[in-house]
Amino acid sequence: MRIIHAKDYDDMSRKAANIISAQVILKSDATLGLATGTTPIGAYKQLIKWYEKGDVDFSEVHTYNLDEYRGLTHDDVQSYHYFMHENFFDHINIDPDNVHVPDGSNPDADAACAAYDKIVKDAGYVDLQLLGIGRNGHIGFNEPDAAFSKGTHMVDLTESTIKANSRLFEHEEDVPRQAYTMGVQTIMHARMILVAASGADKAEAVYDMIYGPVTPQVPASILQLHTNCVVVADEAALAKCPR
Ligand code: PGA
Repeated sequence: MRIIHAKDYDDMSRKAANIISAQVILKSDATLGLATGTTPIGAYKQLIKWYEKGDVDFSEVHTYNLDEYRGLTHDDVQSYHYFMHENFFDHINIDPDNVHVPDGSNPDADAACAAYDKIVKDAGYVDLQLLGIGRNGHIGFNEPDAAFSKGTHMVDLTESTIKANSRLFEHEEDVPRQAYTMGVQTIMHARMILVAASGADKAEAVYDMIYGPVTPQVPASILQLHTNCVVVADEAALAKCPR
């Protein structure tokens, strides 16, 4: 793993955006695995600015999001589909046909997950996968478990994830209890992985991801086995790691 030290959230966001834009400049039809959550918003904002300046062109890029809540339609303001359009896609020149998010509106979990797996596999997996990390070490919605997951599957969200995500909902009861997520094996197929982390509440998970044993109890720890994984984290998130 390569660790890139950032000063704070803004610095982390710029550094992450630089790596993503370099990928798109190097390969105009790059396939990007994208993430939702608070962490990548700053990077998306930076990429939008560079797009507006004419520095980066997304017209041939294809994107594949990690996960989606089960039971929300695409236009639900809480869906990750909506989030991605609001925070990124609506502000760049990506072709809407090139955007992929698991279909949370399909209640048939097996069909929805198999369809998404096929889409990602047929694309040859992604060139660059952007990941946030959960306070419990989750990646996508792959929560701590007895084994690493493989393909796209339905998960029951843990109490800690429901609590963490409830800040974006009016009431905690409104947070969906299930989601469809890319599996750990699918994530590991990415040719490059970029983990972004910011804030003291991620310090423990970041330490465990980089220095802890590789265990499905800390899903992000599997990234130690990836041959091209870069972690961009700010001082607070790296506080428990040796300099
Ligand atoms: P966050 O979520 O970016 O909102 O902290 C990250 C994650 O849970 O993967």
